[in-house]
Amino acid sequence: MTTNESYSRDEALRRLNELLAEEMEASIRYLHLSTLVQGIDRLVIQKVLKENHEETIEHAQQVSEKIIQVGGVPQPKINLELTGDKCTGIEALQTALLFEQAALDAYKDFLDTVEGSGDVILEEFARQQVAIESEHVSELQMLLGESSVGSE
Ligand SMILES: [Fe+2]
Repeated sequence: MTTNESYSRDEALRRLNELLAEEMEASIRYLHLSTLVQGIDRLVIQKVLKENHEETIEHAQQVSEKIIQVGGVPQPKINLELTGDKCTGIEALQTALLFEQAALDAYKDFLDTVEGSGDVILEEFARQQVAIESEHVSELQMLLGESSVGSE
């Protein structure tokens, strides 16, 4: 295992609080997006968005718990402005793909922060979340017919 000499627990906690804010924001965005879908596929797409909404809530809970486990305080800074633009099912899935890609990128950055630090709880958590978010991205890509196996 490589060592991560620049690692700081405070920095990891700061990143975790950013992740917490992002998951909470995403949960609200999914909720909002699901009300805006118009068209014949509304029922199917709403179901997908609701599942994603629930998953982001679960992730927010998990991030909060990790913060507490490593001795921090969950204090997300949330600043959200939502528009009421109606969209088609495909547009909603494209938006969802942006949310999931952003989550994947954020967890990858977090993994960079904690990898090789010896902070095993956080390293494992980061790896697990990168795997889960990668799956979400590829599921949405498949729904959109733009799956790209083996590439970013
Ligand atoms: Fe996700």
